[in-house]
Amino acid sequence: MKWCGSKVPFQGNMLGIAAFAVLQGGLAHAVSLPPPTGEYHVGVSKHTIEHYNPRDVLAPDNISTAFIATIYYPTLQEPGSDPQPYLEPELAAIIEAEWNYTSGFLSTVTSTLQYDAPFLEGPAGESRFPTLLFGPGGGGPPVSGNTILISELVSHGYTVVGLDHPFEQPFLRYPNGTGVEGVEIDYTDAELLQGIYNTRLADTNAFLDYFPKLVEKLGAPFSTTHIGSFGYSLGGAAAVGSLYGDDRLVSGLNLDGGLYGPRANLNDSSADTKKPVLFLGNEVHTGEDAIHDITWGTFPPWQTAYFGKFTINGTTHHDFCDDTFWKTIEPTDPTTGPIDGNRQVAITNAYVKAFLDFALLGQGSPILDGPSAEWPEVVFYDGSV
Ligand SMILES: *[C@@H]1O[C@H](CO)[C@@H](O)[C@H](O)[C@H]1NC(C)=O
Ligand SMILES: *[C@@H]1O[C@H](CO)[C@@H](O)[C@H](O)[C@H]1NC(C)=O
Ligand SMILES: *[C@@H]1O[C@H](CO)[C@@H](O)[C@H](O)[C@H]1NC(C)=O
Ligand SMILES: *[C@@H]1O[C@H](CO)[C@@H](O)[C@H](O)[C@H]1NC(C)=O
Ligand SMILES: *[C@@H]1O[C@H](CO)[C@@H](O)[C@H](O)[C@H]1NC(C)=O
Repeated sequence: MKWCGSKVPFQGNMLGIAAFAVLQGGLAHAVSLPPPTGEYHVGVSKHTIEHYNPRDVLAPDNISTAFIATIYYPTLQEPGSDPQPYLEPELAAIIEAEWNYTSGFLSTVTSTLQYDAPFLEGPAGESRFPTLLFGPGGGGPPVSGNTILISELVSHGYTVVGLDHPFEQPFLRYPNGTGVEGVEIDYTDAELLQGIYNTRLADTNAFLDYFPKLVEKLGAPFSTTHIGSFGYSLGGAAAVGSLYGDDRLVSGLNLDGGLYGPRANLNDSSADTKKPVLFLGNEVHTGEDAIHDITWGTFPPWQTAYFGKFTINGTTHHDFCDDTFWKTIEPTDPTTGPIDGNRQVAITNAYVKAFLDFALLGQGSPILDGPSAEWPEVVFYDGSV
């Protein structure tokens, strides 16, 4: 069983002491993430969300009491002249080992994210820009592994809240400094995977309950009324799954995730989310049969609100997270596709922003309704498939 038709998922718990020791010794040349293109800079703040979950299949005794929300928000404050590494070093070491990067390589990649930068001016809980909930890939990488896309959206005004789940992700650090290593996930255990998916939905629900209070406490100008959900891989599946029956989420966007959970294989009108939804994925997700992710075939015809489905030639599953950029610096990860990583960053940014501007701000874009001369490698599917 895999999260996404095409790829062995990221396995947690691979942190080797030896890899970490090498990292200390040999820092390569620092490279920065591609700068976001919008008018705002990107602030970040991290929060522990207390939530008692007695059905967490990965936690000790199946009980977890907290998860982590990382809020990325627009700020006018200029970044300093000394960009910092953007991944936790322990996380970077695990990913390097898993995805065939040189030890120490990812720990040197920097960003212009600014921790606890000032918010924009404005009353708490209000903003002319919507808020987005983001769910990361199942078993990794955590939210920080999609920093390029998140930063791009924030630079255009969106606030993005990424939710990370301790024990599921290979490594996370709470705001108080405590690090949590992930447990080994058996990706052949369907019941376990179902449990992980259920935890995603439960934590999303708990966060939406708490969000207005958090915004009040922070005095932050984040919208609590216009909220879209999106995610990568399992996070994309859960972003769609969480749309059903929850009026607080007004749209959904799935980056390369096969649908999951009890609704995944519905082939009748109960599959209708009645909300705008976009699917953007790799070539495998044509939806035509079981080996081409049938969930991307059965779900679309039942949608009564806007639905868009696009696949990108030359991509694989990992091209839908920051890995597509990492491979432009060190092309040693055998799990990414042949597409140029900077091109893939541009395509993903363009389609995701076009959809969100449409679904949450009411601004139409021609690329949502057909093939595009600007992006010929993006394959458009009409509403019947
Ligand atoms: C945790 O949940 C899993 C999956 O339901 C189950 O197999 C396991 O026995 C549970 N562990 C404990 C300690 O309850
Ligand atoms: C990773 O690189 C090593 C050689 O450095 C190679 O033996 C291995 O097959 C590579 N892994 C994959 C998944 O290709
Ligand atoms: C940090 O916060 C987490 C989550 O609430 C908690 O489990 C951990 O014990 C805390 N660490 C310290 C040192 O207080
Ligand atoms: C879904 O239902 C339609 C009829 O509504 C049918 O034509 C199609 O074959 C079904 N797909 C699957 C995968 O069962
Ligand atoms: C993309 O892939 C589709 C399906 O294989 C093919 O028909 C199309 O010509 C490709 N487009 C480009 C620009 O490579």
